[in-house]
Amino acid sequence: MPEKKTYYITTPIYYPSDKLHIGHSYTTVAADCEARYRRLKGYDVMFLTGTDEHGQKIQKKAEAKGVTPQAYVDEIVAGIKDLWALMDITNDKFIRTTDDYHVKAVQKIFKKLYDQGDIYKSEYEGHYCTPCESFWTETQLVDGKCPDCGGNVEITKEESYFFRLSKYQDRLIEFIEGNPDFISPSARKNEMLNNFIKKGLEDLCVSRTSFDWGVPVTFDDKHVVYVWVDALSNYITAMGYGSDDDSDYKKYWPADMHLVGKEIVRFHTIIWPALLMALDLPLPKQVYGHGWLLLNGDKMSKSKGNVVDPVILVDRYTSDAIRYFLLREVPFGSDGSFTPESLIKRINADLANDLGNLVSRTAAMEIKYFGGAMPEAKDRLNTEADDEVIGMLSQLSKTVEGYLDQLQFPLALTEIWKCVSRLNKYIDETAPWILSKNEEDKPRLAAVMYTLLEGIRIVSILLEPFMPKTPAKIWEQIGLEAGSDITVWDSAATWGLYPAGAVAKKGDPIFPRLDLEKELAALEEIKQAAEAKKEEKKEAPAEAKATDAKAELPEGVITIDDFAKVKLVVAEVMTAERVEGSEKLIKMKLNVGNAEKQVVSGIAKFYTPEEMVGKKVVFVANLAPATLCGVLSEGMILAATKGKKLTLLTIEGDLPAGSKIS
Ligand code: MSP
Repeated sequence: MPEKKTYYITTPIYYPSDKLHIGHSYTTVAADCEARYRRLKGYDVMFLTGTDEHGQKIQKKAEAKGVTPQAYVDEIVAGIKDLWALMDITNDKFIRTTDDYHVKAVQKIFKKLYDQGDIYKSEYEGHYCTPCESFWTETQLVDGKCPDCGGNVEITKEESYFFRLSKYQDRLIEFIEGNPDFISPSARKNEMLNNFIKKGLEDLCVSRTSFDWGVPVTFDDKHVVYVWVDALSNYITAMGYGSDDDSDYKKYWPADMHLVGKEIVRFHTIIWPALLMALDLPLPKQVYGHGWLLLNGDKMSKSKGNVVDPVILVDRYTSDAIRYFLLREVPFGSDGSFTPESLIKRINADLANDLGNLVSRTAAMEIKYFGGAMPEAKDRLNTEADDEVIGMLSQLSKTVEGYLDQLQFPLALTEIWKCVSRLNKYIDETAPWILSKNEEDKPRLAAVMYTLLEGIRIVSILLEPFMPKTPAKIWEQIGLEAGSDITVWDSAATWGLYPAGAVAKKGDPIFPRLDLEKELAALEEIKQAAEAKKEEKKEAPAEAKATDAKAELPEGVITIDDFAKVKLVVAEVMTAERVEGSEKLIKMKLNVGNAEKQVVSGIAKFYTPEEMVGKKVVFVANLAPATLCGVLSEGMILAATKGKKLTLLTIEGDLPAGSKIS
């Protein structure tokens, strides 16, 4: 038997956020629709999604919650997996960048690039915001201040590894121009070429030392790999690249389709191909940058209200209805708009009225006029209306496949709905209720019913990739079975397979009509209840939850999470001097790895300033600043004391300043 053709499709891996909104599910639903279609066409499909779990932001959020980053992401990732299950997503693999096999493979990739000279060590110079521990470029600053906290920034240097992105500029241009479909739609290709690549690529900073929630660089462990290098690699590490079993990599790579939102096309069409070129690996066949689902014309965010919470929407309206909305509403490649009104109107107009009515009216008439069982009638179709309907429905599968081959989901659905409308019009034109009145019109009535049932069969099969649960509901009402020869995908290409003798059954409406006003009021109520809950949480002291959890601990005992909040690092004393007017205090400048800090410490009776210079001490880096004798102290250094004795905690050996102590 010839081997099946493979089709490897990916979504971006998602940042773990408990604020995923309906817009986020757009990429995944679109990729799922394409994956389902390819499976129905007989491809051996690999559909990959996952989560992008490293980075400073996650580390900070975990710290703020008082939990370890791993515990923080574990909980959220479980929620993301549940969401995909709720939306009937059929990914074949789910990768987490915290998976051990991924971490090891990224380390190998980084080392290989370093060994071959594509990664080199240098210094990253930028603006540094100490409270936020973030580097910013000149253009990212807002009025010269930190864009996150609005505070002052200082120019600072951080030792970093760099990837020779500039070396790949010409090869990238050549590749993109030689493979016009690599970046789609083509407007995005022009944007990448003209606004970015041809303007000149600079080498890319690919490691960080200012936080440690990332993949450690094996040969220099104060560095962690830049999150985008870590994240992009998932597309090959998930297939086993860099592991003992790379059979999936050999089978599926290069990917056929990286489906991504427009804002991250840049990473996928510049950094990613350059990394692959450096690794001497084949490039993916296509990166498709889709548009955004906007909320009332604005960027969506869950903080704008619960109307965009996908769990609430799916629970209330079913995953098929939400999938339909997403795939129908956003012209693929451009932006689309979401409002509760637009969702409810689409459900009512397209699903309840057009499709739902077609199915329920047809089944009801078949039951009423023929006791449900279809008589032999297909050879009696001979009117102009019959010909038009047969012509449209015979072509439908080819047209839909043509659009699905190019990820044009709304166009495919539009074609299907043209047929749904044509069938509804056919009911009005043929007026079966009049035909039913005369016995001699019965053969014509049977022919009309046949056209409707066969039309519905073809439409229902083609709906499967978009709305996986709906076809079976329709089949039940028109007397067909899932898995039979006449409900498989390819059978939609042939007109005339609906069998005589099939028995229609009355069923519930496949999409009940919604009362717009009531729904809007209900959604508003849900939103307000959620907001009230949020307020309640805000009012309750932040520590309440943590205190509850610790209720059983003896007094004075802390948890490992409490301890993890204290950030201890190795600091080297650069300068030291007595604080004027104080017998006890020494003021020191410390090198803490990526910045310089000033501390004031009460050690003057035990150490001279000269003795202090060059010592490596333990520094508490995240202590709120304080002023001692009018001098700013940005942390503290640790010492052991007993009675009148005091000894500083110092670090032996050659651990560099900035090394983490845990
Ligand atoms: N972690 C990166 C991707 C790394 S891939 C190597 C990331 N994650 S994300 O969670 O922010 O986004 C995941 C996907 O959701 C992206 O494709 C993004 O475009 C998509 N969307 C997020 N909001 C969206 C809308 N409002 N509308 C449509 N898609 C949007 O980026």
